[in-house]
Amino acid sequence: MCQDSSPVSGQAASRRSFTRFLAAGAGLTVLAACTPEAPSAVPPSSAPTPASSPAAVTATPTLEITTAAPTTEAAAPAAPSPTPSPSAALPRQFSLTDPASPWLIVNKHRPLVPADYVPADLVRPAVAMTASGEASLLNSTTAAAAEAMFGAAAQDGVSMVLASGYRSYATQVATYNGYVASRGQADADTASARPGYSEHQTGWAFDIADGNGVCGFQPCFADQPAAVWAKANGHRFGFVVRYPWMFHPITGYYYEPWHLRYIGVEAATDMMNRGIFTLEEYFGVAAAPGYP
Ligand code: DAL
Ligand code: ZN
Repeated sequence: MCQDSSPVSGQAASRRSFTRFLAAGAGLTVLAACTPEAPSAVPPSSAPTPASSPAAVTATPTLEITTAAPTTEAAAPAAPSPTPSPSAALPRQFSLTDPASPWLIVNKHRPLVPADYVPADLVRPAVAMTASGEASLLNSTTAAAAEAMFGAAAQDGVSMVLASGYRSYATQVATYNGYVASRGQADADTASARPGYSEHQTGWAFDIADGNGVCGFQPCFADQPAAVWAKANGHRFGFVVRYPWMFHPITGYYYEPWHLRYIGVEAATDMMNRGIFTLEEYFGVAAAPGYP
């Protein structure tokens, strides 16, 4: 099967759910979904219950910048309401709706307001990158945190590059339309945000790649040194893996081990310590598996 990149605390639950999943006769679908060429339509009724029992739903190769056609993944089933926010315990609080706030939650239920928001402080971080043009930019807070994180990774012998940062509304139109053209709208919606719904438009998020270029924007990136390091250490610099494995019923997107989101060191570390993996659960907002 695909690599298990789930958190340690979730592994037992994952195995239990996987057993139930196989018992439901979906095993072959899961195995097939591990190959980029294979269809991977898992019936929603077979899909996992997020958070409490993440199950065997596999990641999908997704190309965030190009319009090449990655494969599909399971349709996002309905998800239960997440647990109340623990964030009140933190000393600092930020808006969940202001695009300039590090705690902004943008998802399929929570569009950016305004839809054509442009960060006021876009800068180019001093990090290794394959991104160019606007995609090389981040908001100033995220850029500083990225510089610190990339530097720490390098000190640990891990080569990390910035593959895609800021994306304007207009660019997201082109990106999303490319996915729709190549995959159809339903499948596009599992990998690419619609215009006005992407974290990339805020400057708070970016995609990383490994310095060796292996498995860029593919499921196997989860096993590359940059992804492994970022997952284990990103919180120290304020980052979370925004679309974790098997939580698509909550986030609305399949596993993107390359997509990091800045929320600040305190919150990211608190999430890690509490074993909470989605912003929806951490901040106590509704799951957003699909557009209303
Ligand atoms: N791939 C993420 C969801 C985006 O398009 O913003
Ligand atoms: Zn991304």
